[in-house]
Amino acid sequence: MTVTPSTWTPSSWREKRALQQPEWPDAAAAAAAVARLAGSPPLVFAGEARALRENLAKAIDRRAFLLQAGDCVESFNEISTQRIREKLKIMLQMSAVLTYGATLPVVKLGRMAGQFTKPRSDAFETVNGQEIPSFRGHMVNSEEPTAAARIPDPQRMIEGYNQSASTLNLLRAFTKGGYADLTQVHMWNKDFVSSSPEGRRYERLALDIERALAFMAACGIDLTAERRLHEVDVFTCHEGLLLDYEEGLTRKDSLTGDWYDCSAHLLWIGERTRGVDDAHVEFFAGVHNPIGVKLGPAATVEEAIELCERLNPLHVPGRLTFYARMGADHVRELLPPLLRAVRDEGHPVLWASDPMHANTIRTADGTKTRRFDAIMAELEGFFGACWEAGVWPGGVHLEFTGENVTECLGGADDVLEEHLANRYETLLDPRLNARQSLDLAFRLAELMRDGVR
Ligand code: PEP
Ligand code: CO
Repeated sequence: MTVTPSTWTPSSWREKRALQQPEWPDAAAAAAAVARLAGSPPLVFAGEARALRENLAKAIDRRAFLLQAGDCVESFNEISTQRIREKLKIMLQMSAVLTYGATLPVVKLGRMAGQFTKPRSDAFETVNGQEIPSFRGHMVNSEEPTAAARIPDPQRMIEGYNQSASTLNLLRAFTKGGYADLTQVHMWNKDFVSSSPEGRRYERLALDIERALAFMAACGIDLTAERRLHEVDVFTCHEGLLLDYEEGLTRKDSLTGDWYDCSAHLLWIGERTRGVDDAHVEFFAGVHNPIGVKLGPAATVEEAIELCERLNPLHVPGRLTFYARMGADHVRELLPPLLRAVRDEGHPVLWASDPMHANTIRTADGTKTRRFDAIMAELEGFFGACWEAGVWPGGVHLEFTGENVTECLGGADDVLEEHLANRYETLLDPRLNARQSLDLAFRLAELMRDGVR
């Protein structure tokens, strides 16, 4: 299969309007950083991206479910074994809940190892009366609120590449080296979670899984020989926002001769940069990775169809995922026309819900937060809209962390407004904490079961 248009090159996006790009103060230094990336080993491999695409194809027609989750934005200052392990743990826990609860394989896709850039609604912000450029993620500038710290520095792309490489290295070790072994299902339950109602519910589920494994062993099945019980595939993704970086990591696959963006397995195009004639769509039309696109409340049927035609002209299942991020109050009304139009045109799209980004609110003191109930309400609306259109609701895209932070309101944990300041650590958007994430997974499994019945 080849999707690359004949006029395409890794740098043809430069002829188009590129939104949300930093203005590097020194163009030569930026070009040197891109050249350095272009000479560095790929972070992921084309064959892995193809494997993810095949898994996503299964999630289109009810044979799998996509769990895509991670930080809103990763931080250069927080890379540590413990944090990566905690994120992986909660992902494995949620997957166990979903796999067992809905008896479906879960495709695990971490917003990790490269989620270092952010689109911003405002290019500037006012701090202590001074107007300074906005923070755009550690691959561009620093979050420190001074004009100097906000100057884009292309060396940060190299640092981002290095941090991504070490994160991936650890992820590969954890997922293939015993940590993700299904016999460890109890160990994924963290101390501060295990004593909570969700944690206890999880313990019961883990016992059931253990019993099922013991039953199979008693039937004579050699569990040690079954690789899938001992290893998992965790794929990586980030918003493909910073096109200098993505271009620098794009390689021609020696096996197929096709282009792949080897910075991550899946790249998605954000709500602010998805114009069909703009640079991001131009760039991602030419690489063969699985691609995602966010669709917010303003998305039209025409735009959705044009994106399908531009990004997946050959109708390859698993190539294109749409994330609906409409808001809890609008999803039931705004999503069905898009679902029907794409379905009627015969485009094989994986529909997933991002219940986070259109449900962000500010408290009276200006703190950015999200209500757990609004997140659940958007998910319920998404499932309802999909069932009605005869489309499989194939996945979720979440912002979460394995830590016990207080950034989103509510949940079984009942984080209240006065608790937000206790552990509010995100660099940008509020994330679900470990308990809220586990709670969400149980409710999601119920939603899936209800729909299948
Ligand atoms: C994000 O996923 O962090 C994001 C910025 O999303 P969106 O493009 O949907 O606003
Ligand atoms: Co975000």
